[in-house]
Amino acid sequence: MIKVTLTKNPKSKPQCDNLVFGRNFTDHMFMMNYNPEKGWHDARIIPYSPFEISPSALVFHYGQAIFEGMKAYKGKDGTVTMFRPRDNFLRMNRSADRLCIPQFDVDFAMQALAKLIETEKDWIPQAEGTSLYIRPFIIATDPCLGVKISDTYAFFIILSPVGSYYKNGFAPVSLYVEDFYTRASSGGTGEAKCAGNYATCLKAEQKAKSLGYDQVLWLDGKEKKFVEEVGSMNMFIVIDGEVITAKLDGTILPGITRNSIITVLKDKGYKVSERSLSIDEVLSAQKQGKLNEAFGTGTAAVVSPVAKLCYKGTDYIVGDGKMGKITNMLYDTLTGIQKGKYEDKFGWLFKI
Ligand SMILES: Cc1ncc(COP(=O)(O)O)c(C=O)c1O
Repeated sequence: MIKVTLTKNPKSKPQCDNLVFGRNFTDHMFMMNYNPEKGWHDARIIPYSPFEISPSALVFHYGQAIFEGMKAYKGKDGTVTMFRPRDNFLRMNRSADRLCIPQFDVDFAMQALAKLIETEKDWIPQAEGTSLYIRPFIIATDPCLGVKISDTYAFFIILSPVGSYYKNGFAPVSLYVEDFYTRASSGGTGEAKCAGNYATCLKAEQKAKSLGYDQVLWLDGKEKKFVEEVGSMNMFIVIDGEVITAKLDGTILPGITRNSIITVLKDKGYKVSERSLSIDEVLSAQKQGKLNEAFGTGTAAVVSPVAKLCYKGTDYIVGDGKMGKITNMLYDTLTGIQKGKYEDKFGWLFKI
């Protein structure tokens, strides 16, 4: 049972043409709590508002926090569609396991999400490039100083109408190949969507921005040699017609967009490899004119073309510095399936 309490003070909705990513929040949120006696309980939809939490809650001190990110789209006829939301909740349970957070029921989370979106459907923007971004998250709430696994947790879902993730929209981005800081290493939390992974990245992202690059391209933590992923995207590089992405070996996030892209590419007969790819191989391909394209993939940006890589102080242009053909085809195919322009032949859409 999900109890619904509606707000008495609905907010005015932002203009569709001026939506900054993640700054506007809808009127309501979903919340439930966990304790060892009752398990997950007290599921409710309540007005979006600040909440009380002890300053000693474990989440603030030892970082037991996980989250997800997904989107809902509203079609011209008003139908609301989501892209593979179940996979996000399944991944969230895997992140929960890594951070010793109790599992939740995925079917129940799907019901809660559908009910929240139904409540907030008037907040879903319809203009080109806009959507409703969905952020489920779980935090450890035991008031306690001393490292331990929390006994109590809170699960939230909040919603934010969004425009493009990058302020330049679909313009190609530049990446700074980080060769000092590391994001993840074997046996760590790289494949979990936990808050700490993002805090770890900030220093390198700050450096990249100060040098004039948009984002960081992470290399493996051990040898700083192999291409892993970008801040919030998986990375694909096309060399001489082969589309290459890092294999899932525990250090990168198993992106749902990544999996969809691999499926689409295989379906269309492209050569796709999930394999180790050294930065040396990428740069030597560039020198030989064989670095055809590069792009990042993720829920927020869907597909983001990469025009330039900086490694050890030298800039390398990817392809002709513009969006490549495969990148363009993938963006069109994936957003086309999401918006109902193309047939959903892989059964990825979830209608609310
Ligand atoms: C570190 C990281 N890698 C990759 C991705 C892309 O994953 P997805 O396609 O599931 O959004 C994300 C975004 O969630 C991310 O945070």
